[in-house]
Formats: sequence, C-alpha cells, structure tokens
Amino acid sequence: MIRKATSEDMPILLEMEKRCFTDRAYVREQIEWFLNSTHAVTFLSFKENGVVGSVMLSLRGKRGKVVSVGVLPERRGQGIGRELMYRAEKWFADSGVKEVELEVNVSNHEAAKMYSDLGYRTVRVLKKYYHGKEDAYLMRKKLPKVK
Ligand SMILES: CC(C)(COP(=O)(O)OP(=O)(O)OC[C@H]1O[C@@H](n2cnc3c(N)ncnc32)[C@H](O)[C@@H]1OP(=O)(O)O)[C@@H](O)C(=O)NCCC(=O)NCCS
Repeated sequence: MIRKATSEDMPILLEMEKRCFTDRAYVREQIEWFLNSTHAVTFLSFKENGVVGSVMLSLRGKRGKVVSVGVLPERRGQGIGRELMYRAEKWFADSGVKEVELEVNVSNHEAAKMYSDLGYRTVRVLKKYYHGKEDAYLMRKKLPKVK
C-alpha cells in the first residue's frame, strides 16, 4: 500500500532518511517543508511489517522533480522503488506536469539503472554537484499525454 505522508509520519521519515541514504539525510526542517508545501508531496510504501520506502516530489510549474526515493536496504530488488516511481508519475500527471526531472549521482548505478529502465534520459552531467565533488546525471522524462 502506498499513501501520502502527513506530519504525523515525521518519526518514520527521519528513520527512513537514516536507513536509506548513506551519503546524506534530510533534516526535520527539510522534511517539514515537503510535508507542508502545496508544491510538494511525500509518499510512503507499506508492506506487511511496516514502512519500506519513500519518495519525495516537488513541482515547478509544468515540470516535476523527484527529490529522493529510498527503499530499506533489506527490501531492495523487490520492485518497491519502481512502484513508488509509478505512484510519483501518477501524482505528477494529475498535477498537470508534462516533464519529470531528477538528479542522480553518477556512481549510483542501481538508481540510474532504475530511472533509465523507467524511461528517464540523461540530458547533462552536472559537474561536482554533490558536496562540490561528485558528478550527477541530470535526467528527464516526458510524461505521456493523458486523454
Ligand atoms: C534506488 C532504489 C530506490 C531502488 O529501489 P528498489 O526497490 O531496490 O528497486 P526495484 O526493485 O523496484 O528495481 C527497479 C529497477 O532498479 C534497478 N535496480 C535495482 N537494484 C539494482 C541493482 N542492485 N543493480 C542494478 N540495477 C538495479 C533495475 O533497473 C530494476 O529493474 P529490474 O528489477 O527490472 O532489473 C534503492 O536501491 C535505494 O533505496 N537506494 C538508496 C537510496 C538512493 O540511492 N536513492 C536514489 C537517489 S535519491
């Protein structure tokens, strides 16, 4: 089951940040912004034993941004990341987004492969994007037109 996160989910979201991301973790204030902004949303994925993944999204006009997607290490490779991305694209489409954008560390092969399998294409390499050191791929995908 995937549902929108609310401010009551703050402890879960902080825990997910800690467990899913080794190189960075959003702090409470950043997560609060995503929970409270009308231009952003966070979805949580639940399986029988509780939360297993999350995705944070934001809107900039007709362009949507996947800010982060994370799945618990022990639950990776089971399709949860892909399900979250499908939910993200549905929310974007419902919000009038025509094109989705994201950045991914060039060394993050799992995520880059997932995005490319889902139809995201690299438009540029952003030099020293992470911590002034590591490069990122800027990837974009046009969403299909809704009839
Ligand atoms: C990236 C991430 C969200 C993928 O989640 P996941 O639930 O493991 O992914 P899925 O099982 O849905 O797999 C979707 C696709 O991702 C790619 N993928 C996932 N694991 C992979 C691996 N170990 N090696 C290569 N590709 C992989 C594949 O394309 C896969 O499709 P396939 O199963 O048809 O081969 C997860 O690895 C993660 O949380 N990583 C740490 C956080 C992070 O780096 N997030 C992205 C940047 S914000």
